[in-house]
Amino acid sequence: MEAIVHLASETGTGQSMYEISRYAQENVQGTAELMQVLATTPGHAVQRVLLASSRSVYGEGAYLRASDGQRLTPAARSAAALKSHQWDPTCPDSGEVLQLVATREEDRTAPSSIYAATKLMQEDLLRITCDSTGIGYGILRLQNVYGEGQSLKNPYTGILSIFSTKIRRGLELPIFEDGLESRDFVHVSDVAAAFAAALARPKAPDTVINVGSGRATSVLEMATALARAFDATPNTRITGEYRLGDIRHNAADITRLHDVLGLEPQIDLQQGLNRFATWVQDQPLPEDLLAQANAELKARNMMG
Ligand SMILES: NC(=O)c1ccc[n+]([C@@H]2O[C@H](COP(=O)([O-])OP(=O)(O)OC[C@H]3O[C@@H](n4cnc5c(N)ncnc54)[C@H](O)[C@@H]3O)[C@@H](O)[C@H]2O)c1
Repeated sequence: MEAIVHLASETGTGQSMYEISRYAQENVQGTAELMQVLATTPGHAVQRVLLASSRSVYGEGAYLRASDGQRLTPAARSAAALKSHQWDPTCPDSGEVLQLVATREEDRTAPSSIYAATKLMQEDLLRITCDSTGIGYGILRLQNVYGEGQSLKNPYTGILSIFSTKIRRGLELPIFEDGLESRDFVHVSDVAAAFAAALARPKAPDTVINVGSGRATSVLEMATALARAFDATPNTRITGEYRLGDIRHNAADITRLHDVLGLEPQIDLQQGLNRFATWVQDQPLPEDLLAQANAELKARNMMG
């Protein structure tokens, strides 16, 4: 075995906030076991390890303060701010609402969920072990990945799988906050291309690389486009609900994806959603477990 692509992880951001020990065990200890083997097995042939990390390590990510053009990485939104429906991050000094800019790999990391903290720890375990043993590495910070083959059963993660089940059952799509929160949705084939490129290049990247579309799409816009992909009338409802630990906006700066791996995203959102919807329609119809997952969060005061 010459290369390892490390994808295994528990992935529920909300769930991680109350299953802390299990998330640390699976994600941190699991990765530590792998590093232990790499560092202590004599004569193994592994020359490169790639990690599926996550944009969540940035927390809120990068913003601009319009009044003076200052680039900032604000802290996570407080429970009080969310409770008063103040959705957008504000400048702690001037109080002004900040504007989203694309987050770069060198921006501050500031996990705002236990899941994110475990992903950052995975990165550190990998980078430090590889540096000290001379193994090449690549840390790919994936944005919101979706596409054919994704889990449709896990109610704790994957907004597209949750919404696709609701659309198939003719149910409305409940949208948190004011629906204008955004994510960088990237199709799984563009993500797979990034891993393939990182494996194929002569030298390991030995760095962190954002893998995304480079574009922020509001959740409302995504839900509408997804309904369109299913030939359904969009039945969205803005609920004003929120989850602690959720970020407001996200878009990745993908300059490094281009410069290091020579890639540009190939699949635009509607095209990717159409492919996803075609695949989903051939899958068994899962139960709609969103209410149950949200009830677990509410019972623990993690959702309002
Ligand atoms: N899907 C996304 O939007 C996204 C975004 C950023 C990062 N990632 C990362 O990409 C990777 C894959 O994510 P996914 O969306 O396919 O998640 P997923 O939850 O669908 O799949 C993860 C798989 O890992 C398995 N797993 C968990 N702990 C394990 C362990 N200790 N040993 C062996 N297997 C274990 C789970 O059973 C599951 O099958 C993860 O590392 C995730 O953190 C995903």
